[in-house]
Amino acid sequence: MHMKSVLAASTAVMLAGPVMAEPTAEVLHWWTSGSEAQSIAVLQEQFKAEGGTWTDMPVAGGGGDAAMTALRARVLAGNAPTAVQLKGPAIQEWYEETGLADIGTVAEENNWAEVLPDRIAEHMKCEGQWCAAPVNVHRVNWIWGNKQILDEHGIEMPTTWEEFNAAAEKLQAAGVTPLAHGGQNWQDATIFETVVLGLGGPEFYQKALVDLDPEALTSDTMKQVFDQMRTIRGYVDDNFSGRDWNLATAMVMNGEAAFQIMGDWAKGEFLAAGQEPGVDFVCAPTPGEGFLYNVDSFAFFELDGEEKQQGQQLLAKLIMGPEFQKTFNLNKGSIPARNDVALDDFDDCAKQSAEAMAQGSEDGSLLPSYAHGMALRGAPAGAITDVVTAHFNSDMSSEDAVQQLADAVANAM
Ligand code: GAL
Repeated sequence: MHMKSVLAASTAVMLAGPVMAEPTAEVLHWWTSGSEAQSIAVLQEQFKAEGGTWTDMPVAGGGGDAAMTALRARVLAGNAPTAVQLKGPAIQEWYEETGLADIGTVAEENNWAEVLPDRIAEHMKCEGQWCAAPVNVHRVNWIWGNKQILDEHGIEMPTTWEEFNAAAEKLQAAGVTPLAHGGQNWQDATIFETVVLGLGGPEFYQKALVDLDPEALTSDTMKQVFDQMRTIRGYVDDNFSGRDWNLATAMVMNGEAAFQIMGDWAKGEFLAAGQEPGVDFVCAPTPGEGFLYNVDSFAFFELDGEEKQQGQQLLAKLIMGPEFQKTFNLNKGSIPARNDVALDDFDDCAKQSAEAMAQGSEDGSLLPSYAHGMALRGAPAGAITDVVTAHFNSDMSSEDAVQQLADAVANAM
């Protein structure tokens, strides 16, 4: 440093009082679609406004599989990012493997325990300590429809899978692609879990995809689930393979397909394109009872360096800020994780989500999404998804599928 700047710097320090590290953060996440990028930008802006320096580390790929691979590579190379989008039992898995920064002070100073539903708070703790900060609650079991197509064909949003099939056949006969789908493992898994919930009901879902009960996995109900998956396979277009979820959403927006089965991050895309619920598109829960939740959150690795540690504490605080939770979730399609944020400015789908979540926590039908990493650890979840995808992309029978499912789960335990 030149003498002059040394002098300038030391004067600045003298004027500012004790030396404060400037918070920095490198944030690894998978929010790269239009609405996802808009949402994470809210956090980035607030972080910068508080004097932080943000280094963005986006890893494209819906559902986060690619991001999780990138994370593992970074950690193995001894170069863990400051903050990472991480959720469900993966939080505790990483905690056991590498440790995670304790954010208990921020959580206590800001009363997280009082403003978070217990169910969500539990996911954010490692051995009783706060180790992750939640941003939202996404509902996974939604079906989205193109309003104009549905009106033209006299179709209501289906309330049973039979109605769904009847609507799909009617559309198909009229030359309309019934279902916009992207053939990626996690998207297959997303449809699968909504069918498990819809056909089996909440108790069956719990037994099969949370408790991994072998009887449930090989039951007749599970065979019917695979039958329905085979039927659904007949409703997607020829180019579905590998398509990103947001491109599938765009098909519904543009009238290239009638429906999409996807969590309410799809609503983020409709809204970002200027479409209105009830006018341009319609939301309805997938046929059946229950609420499959998917809570996005961030966790922080234990790193040296005061700037990084300050960055982590600041991020944790901002993420749980009521204003942030409102703005972020208006963009993201989800509802706030905090239970004290007014939903007046949110749309009807979001209000419906909040009501269904409240009801679900009373009647026991609020359940963790397996497809989005909320229900199971990585190994069994991956084993299930492999079978679901193999079945969807072949002519495997439902009998073989349930057997493979039970075997794969047993091997992964
Ligand atoms: C989910 C994630 C959502 C969403 C989606 C598509 O797993 O929780 O926030 O963005 O993936 O990338």
